[in-house]
Amino acid sequence: MSLWGGRFSEPSDDDLRRLNDSIGFDQVLYAEDIEGSLVYARALAEADVISMDEAETIVAGLQRVLDEFDSGRFALADDDEDIHTAVERRLIEIVGAVGGKLHTGRSRNDQVATDLRLWTMRAADRLHDGLGYLQAAIVSLAEQHTETLMPGYTHLQPAQPITAAHWLMSFFWMLDRDRDRIASARRRMSVCPLGSGALAGTPFAVNRHKIAADLGFESPSPNSLDAVSDRDYVTDLLYAIAVCAMHLSRLAEDILIYSNPAFGFITLDDRYSTGSSLMPQKRNADPMELARGKTGRLIGNLAGFLSTLKGLPSGYNKDLQEDKEALFDSVSALEQLLPVVTATVGSLQINAEAMAKALTEDLLATDLADYLVRKGLPFRQAHHIIGQVVRAADERQTSLSQLPLAVLVEVSDLFEDDVAAVFSFERSVRRRAAFGGSAPAALQEQIALAKAIMAG
Ligand code: ARG
Repeated sequence: MSLWGGRFSEPSDDDLRRLNDSIGFDQVLYAEDIEGSLVYARALAEADVISMDEAETIVAGLQRVLDEFDSGRFALADDDEDIHTAVERRLIEIVGAVGGKLHTGRSRNDQVATDLRLWTMRAADRLHDGLGYLQAAIVSLAEQHTETLMPGYTHLQPAQPITAAHWLMSFFWMLDRDRDRIASARRRMSVCPLGSGALAGTPFAVNRHKIAADLGFESPSPNSLDAVSDRDYVTDLLYAIAVCAMHLSRLAEDILIYSNPAFGFITLDDRYSTGSSLMPQKRNADPMELARGKTGRLIGNLAGFLSTLKGLPSGYNKDLQEDKEALFDSVSALEQLLPVVTATVGSLQINAEAMAKALTEDLLATDLADYLVRKGLPFRQAHHIIGQVVRAADERQTSLSQLPLAVLVEVSDLFEDDVAAVFSFERSVRRRAAFGGSAPAALQEQIALAKAIMAG
């Protein structure tokens, strides 16, 4: 008979149990569950609800249960519905009836909310660290390429020359926002539901502030009814993970495109490339495709769980049990992705020559317009004139720099000999030295800022 079986005359139906039980996926919470119970047992003793001896017996029993889990010796029983009932059942087997005092004033509602918060806080810390490693890999590659030129794209059409460091560092800042999102979610998580009971609070004089502090929380939850059904911390992390995965997916997409032989800008290390079982020449970037592909599922986890929460009446509802699989899946997917993406970036070969070869003079059309602007023409007119120049070059099947000055002067008499100086990709990039631009000098500044942020 289960721990709540008293009012029933028949055991649960097997199909109901298969649907209802969460032990299959909530076992991973065993350490957090036992931690919460250790603190709670002492809090009960301090409130004189149980004796110090009883608390010590319970604590010793819980330590044994923890050992059994840690060493893989914990044996699940048939009726273990979830991690909370499994731990309590085993505790009572070990210490006897006194183990049954542990749940005084406590409900699985405040218990699971506490366990999962602790787990989520730890997951947030690991992800925060993992993102830091990826950021470091990006910075160290970018540092070597502040002078390496490549085409920058908008609409995936060649747009203006940029430095490879600028491209790489763009992802540093996306990931920095991700870290910040995780850190701010982490701060909001740090609220302890334990001592909320099933919904109405506990009638026993446990010190909830001390319970919260002992478990490493910032504070106890201020409203027991809210506390037992609040899963904002799950949606916060699911959201932070979904956005982060979206960024990784975009990085992956760039890597896929730039490593395609048609571009050849980068080469993936053998360890992070995959082959084809049929075509011997193939070098595929399956891990990058998985980064892109998994992102769909992680966005789904967020959208799915938000749909679960919407419309729940006050208090705990079993729907909330759906929090775990979504959260565990998103966290483990990102934890699988991060080291591989980090190693892929860390071992990326940048092919500066292929990048340079892809620089075509049309990428300097904006610079040509800026040349006229410097001679006093309003930009809008300059834009129009350069459009005509580009068309003239097209018609003559030549490049912009090969157009005779006479042809340029026909379009605008502001063109002079010094226009030749516009046709330099280096100069184009160097001119973009304002803060946040692609110039090597601006990149030095950007990288210094990034390093300062990483140093904390
Ligand atoms: N396994 C449950 C969950 O994951 C624990 C809480 C159950 N509470 C209850 N009143 N049935 O949400």
